Amino acid sequence: MALIGTLFFIFTATCVGANKVFATVQCRESFGKHGQQSLLECVVQPTVMAADTEIEIVSWTKEGDKKPLLVFNDGKTKSQPGYMFAEPSWNKKNMNVSLLITNTTVAHAGVYKCWLKINNGDAEWTTNLKVTAKYSKPIIRSVPETIPQNTDVALICDSDGGYPKGAIHWIVEHDTEWTKSSEMKAEQGPNGLFHLSSKLTLLRGSIFSKYTCVVVNASGGIEEETVFVIEDEPRPDGQGGEKSDSTSKIVAPVVVIGSLIIGLMILLLYRRRRQNGHLTSNSSEEEEEEGLRNKDDRSSHV
Ligand SMILES: *[C@@H]1O[C@H](CO)[C@@H](O)[C@H](O)[C@H]1NC(C)=O
Ligand SMILES: *[C@@H]1O[C@H](CO)[C@@H](O)[C@H](O)[C@H]1NC(C)=O
Repeated sequence: MALIGTLFFIFTATCVGANKVFATVQCRESFGKHGQQSLLECVVQPTVMAADTEIEIVSWTKEGDKKPLLVFNDGKTKSQPGYMFAEPSWNKKNMNVSLLITNTTVAHAGVYKCWLKINNGDAEWTTNLKVTAKYSKPIIRSVPETIPQNTDVALICDSDGGYPKGAIHWIVEHDTEWTKSSEMKAEQGPNGLFHLSSKLTLLRGSIFSKYTCVVVNASGGIEEETVFVIEDEPRPDGQGGEKSDSTSKIVAPVVVIGSLIIGLMILLLYRRRRQNGHLTSNSSEEEEEEGLRNKDDRSSHV
């Protein structure tokens, strides 16, 4: 609750004519997410709330833009597309003059100004909108695609669509930070979102089995991570490659000989069964053959 309290910036506006306080305006610090709605929350609190207290004019502008985003004057509201009063059926008696941005983009980040006329005085205040966008789960690929023995390899990790600018960290095995051995590029796309790409070079002889690419946002929080596993783990002394080679040299003949033996056994079993069959059901087979011959005879007679 204390945190929420500190998030309120209280601005005191003074009555222009009589130079006395007529209203305070409370604005909450605004956080927007790219692609979602953002609320610039501001509420007017007149020092004297009479039954006839009405807001005469409201004007929302963004610092750097001359054209107002939303204006209420003479009982009518005019706004640019994508901006509206946050209160669904706002009227001049409603002290909640919050602005709603319907589809937030990175370009919406900045300082907003609201000016209003009330109780024959006017007041102006500002609120800052911070926009964030979450980075995508990183994708790691190796160059070259299949990792040969005894060559240097690079791992490339890409993550997209984040804001503000973040960073890519590399963790080797379980907890060894290797970010210093990597090179990162951050490119801003036309929509203002960042694409991060980091290259980690692995030197032959010191290739480990597990590499984790971690995407860290602007405030240092972990957003996403992906693990890359190098399956055939060669030992740093170079023995690993030879070992796996000799293993395959042994495995291949074993498979060939094994299948030959199994094939022979099946053949032997089959022949034995046939011999057994002949011994026991010789007569029935002969009878069958006889029957067939008879059938043929009969058909030829017809
Ligand atoms: C102002 O209105 C908006 C939209 O209805 C609402 O989300 C917000 O909580 C209101 N603020 C206050 C202080 O009443
Ligand atoms: C960064 O990530 C942390 C943890 O996920 C999150 O709490 C924080 O709001 C994020 N900050 C920004 C600027 O995106």
